[in-house]
Amino acid sequence: MTRKQRLLFCIVFAAFLLSACSANTTPAPTLTAFEQLGQSVFNLRCAQCHALAPDTVIIGPSLAGVATRAGSRVPEMDAAEYIEMSILFPKDFLVPEYSDTMPTNFGKELTSEELQAVVAFLMTLK
Ligand code: HEC
Repeated sequence: MTRKQRLLFCIVFAAFLLSACSANTTPAPTLTAFEQLGQSVFNLRCAQCHALAPDTVIIGPSLAGVATRAGSRVPEMDAAEYIEMSILFPKDFLVPEYSDTMPTNFGKELTSEELQAVVAFLMTLK
């Protein structure tokens, strides 16, 4: 290897190390145990209709960013209230352009802990 090649090699290697390090400084958002419970409820009960990837429609709307828009769906309702109401009483507010196909029995099917956990999980989707 010539000096120039060695220098180039060092620069490339240093850049590689730097990018590897900076990738590690932004950890993926971690969920609390309660939010993880909500995530598993979601995977079991909701994921067949709701994607988490943006702009992906299965049967219902994608829930990417739902915590951000939920607060402005219904006047006087904050985001967590709206999400809980959407699960318990899906017919009360229909997302424009979607049909009325969300099951209405989650109030019976989920324990109150499961309901609160899935709301907590959805509130992490800013
Ligand atoms: C059979 C399909 C189906 C299942 C299962 C389902 N949903 Fe839905 N969901 C829909 C449809 C369709 C809409 C849009 C119409 C409406 O507003 O009800 C919707 C709307 C929503 C909204 C409102 C989204 C917004 O942008 O305002 C939330 C929140 C929601 N669902 C959460 C859930 C959760 C949590 C579960 C699981 C506990 C679930 N859904 C299960 C079909 C489903």
